[in-house]
Amino acid sequence: MTTVTPVRFEYGEPRIGIGTGSPRLSWRITDADEGWRFDACEIECVRDGTTESVIVASGEQVFVPWPFAPLRSRECARVRVRVATGESWTPFSEPSSIEAGLLEQEAWVARWISPIGLGGMDDGAPWLFRDVELERKPVKARLYVSARGLYEFTINGIRVGDEVLTPGWTAYEHRVRYQTYDVAELMQVGRVRLGALLGNGWFRGQLVAPGNRSSYGDRLALIAQLELTFADGSTQTVSTDEAWRAAESPIMFDDFYDGQRTDLRRSLDGLGAGGVDVVACDARLVAPRGPGIRVTETVPAQRILTTPSGRTVVDFGQNLVGWVRVKVGDGRAGQRVVIRHAEVLEHGEVGVRPLRSAKATSEYILSGGSCEVLQPTFTFNGFRYAEVEGLPDLQSGDVDALVIGSGLERTGWFESSHPGVNRLHENIVWSMRGNFVGVPTDCPQRDERLGWTGDIQVFAPTASFLFDTAGFLSDWLCDLASEQKDDGGVPYVIPDVLRDPDPAAAGWSDAATLVPEAVYRATGDVGVLARQYRSMCAWADKVLALSGSSGLWDTGFQFGDWLDPTAPPEDAARAQAAPGVVATAYAVRTLGAVADAAEVLGERGDAANYRAHERRVREAFARAYVGPEGRLVSDCQTVYALALCGDLLGTEAQRAGAGSRLAELVIAADATVSTGFLGTPLILDALTMSGHADLAYAMLLQTKCPSWLYAVSMGATTVWERWDSMLPDGTINPGSMTSFNHYAYGAVADWLHRAIGGITALEPGYRRIRVRPEVGSGRSLTYARARHASPYGDIDVSWRIDDDRFALEIDVPYGVTAEVWMPEAGGTWVVQHGKHEFRRTLGG
Ligand code: BGC
Repeated sequence: MTTVTPVRFEYGEPRIGIGTGSPRLSWRITDADEGWRFDACEIECVRDGTTESVIVASGEQVFVPWPFAPLRSRECARVRVRVATGESWTPFSEPSSIEAGLLEQEAWVARWISPIGLGGMDDGAPWLFRDVELERKPVKARLYVSARGLYEFTINGIRVGDEVLTPGWTAYEHRVRYQTYDVAELMQVGRVRLGALLGNGWFRGQLVAPGNRSSYGDRLALIAQLELTFADGSTQTVSTDEAWRAAESPIMFDDFYDGQRTDLRRSLDGLGAGGVDVVACDARLVAPRGPGIRVTETVPAQRILTTPSGRTVVDFGQNLVGWVRVKVGDGRAGQRVVIRHAEVLEHGEVGVRPLRSAKATSEYILSGGSCEVLQPTFTFNGFRYAEVEGLPDLQSGDVDALVIGSGLERTGWFESSHPGVNRLHENIVWSMRGNFVGVPTDCPQRDERLGWTGDIQVFAPTASFLFDTAGFLSDWLCDLASEQKDDGGVPYVIPDVLRDPDPAAAGWSDAATLVPEAVYRATGDVGVLARQYRSMCAWADKVLALSGSSGLWDTGFQFGDWLDPTAPPEDAARAQAAPGVVATAYAVRTLGAVADAAEVLGERGDAANYRAHERRVREAFARAYVGPEGRLVSDCQTVYALALCGDLLGTEAQRAGAGSRLAELVIAADATVSTGFLGTPLILDALTMSGHADLAYAMLLQTKCPSWLYAVSMGATTVWERWDSMLPDGTINPGSMTSFNHYAYGAVADWLHRAIGGITALEPGYRRIRVRPEVGSGRSLTYARARHASPYGDIDVSWRIDDDRFALEIDVPYGVTAEVWMPEAGGTWVVQHGKHEFRRTLGG
């Protein structure tokens, strides 16, 4: 029977405390018969005991506008949907509920409070608390809370919610995120103790460089509003104010880069308590747009080894992000346990040099209790290995690693007949998980961990296939827009803690236009384009100003094709690709993306204007950089990739010439990669589209350095920052940029999903797709499968070659139309929802 799945509101999370009164609705249709289509839907909403229903004459099912009066702050609604073809209706979906957060700043009666006399810059984490006497148990209890710094909130000693590192990182000067919790279960008659530990986190801990603290201020602060509703309808609100008290806590020191020191002999008893005062904060409190940071997996210790120098090291078998948890059965009071983290071993010892100044050390002083669990609260690490000092009898069953990250829903999978390629894909997923921690970061381990715009710009299409990133990236894009310069310049990191006064670099600042485009393409979310539109135009205007009348953006600072394999260890920007050529190619992309967005949003004048500029700059590129036979001024893999993928080559003959020249370069390099951050996402596409799919396969499967599978052959479990982060002799690259967990080169997975897996979105949100697996003539792969949980439902494509028999199976969800191409067959088949099989015999 055709069924409508429960409605999803906006980006799925949060369900309590959503930041809009008009959440858009999405649903999926399952088990529809072939040929069936709906042309109307009925949306029913129950709120305040009244039921309202609206019939919409449309076949839309993704981001359908809220058809009722907006929800007010705190208001709840239950929504269900049914759809019809003609007069025949499906049953209603199961109802889904939603509750609005505090939608106006005036809904906050709580004040920001900060401890006096403790919790200073060089003190441990302060604890703020107050007691409330309850005569009755409330029927409803909501806690709205945020911090300048990090908070961990408890009620009668029990942690509230399952998020960590709350409230997360935003452009704190402009927007501070708050969380909403249902805390009814934690309420009891009698004394209720509300308490919050405050940590330094991004607000006040080290950021950017060693010793650089207080990026946002030097006083930690808390804001909390507990709203209780009783059975008779009466309410009570308890808020942060001068009545709260402050005390010291067991956390003596906390910092993201350096780690945490915890003295478990101290308890949270409120002793030595001091006062708080109310502090001012101009930033807006905003609800989250996506999932919070959570513990997403527990990884057991794989083995415990003793290093050549006699140290005890735990190997978790996987480079991951989070922290180590150790259970100590019978520690002595005062016993010191120290845990150091590292991503790799070098000469059999933990290799901490890539961490640069970050101490990445958790230290505990045991209380001597009979069973102590050691884990940090306000720090995280990127590691595969943990060196443990102070627990000589450590057994592997006593220790595990808790993986943390933004709780994104997984939406993409890939597998093939090649174990190395499968491991590469796994590594890319792990690098994404480790670097989607509140904001999209470059790396999770050293003294950096920043929201570098270039990294996410190249990785966004991959990310949006693998996980549902729409809420997460939309939220981050709000920060980008709020930190953009008046002249349109876009900072290199968001949130902008570098604070360059005039930031504009190709590939990095282009995140302003290309990340919204990637989100829109993956999800069909017009809202993200509408919200970012002004920011997108501002960046395009800045690009126009920088490229001037020549149309060539060939002046000023550039990161260029960052970290191409020829870059010397200490000069990551020195690449083969000429910076001006790269920047001009990006100018065309940005102008095109803004013209596209303007068309979608119905901004016709802008669309024509940016389209004309796109054309002008494209022609300028061809005139200045492309020779008559398609030879490019900057004769290297990255520049051919940019020119071919960006359609920058002028005539057909020039395009063909450029394709051949790229092939020559790749053959001369023995199919090793010679691209950096900006060429890497495109190189295999450029080879495929110019008729050299076999070379693309050869490059993918190359194991000699530099290549993707070189790292895999060296035992990598995440994507490395540079092609040779670890040198063939097992020593660590001497350069200062030597992370073992950077997702940028993992952007190749986008090609795996499209070209090998065969799934390409032709229309936003996968409304229309092309299924065209590229099998290559070498038969290097005999099987591949890609799956994507699109907004309409699961798309599943797999193919297999047995001798010369090629078989393709696809499963298409309701709402999606697929154009299917078979290798060596002219023409396409167009199919709708359902399972389909295609077979043919391959020649040659
Ligand atoms: C980061 C990169 C980033 C780059 C910008 C590095 O330190 O780790 O991933 O994009 O700087 O140049």
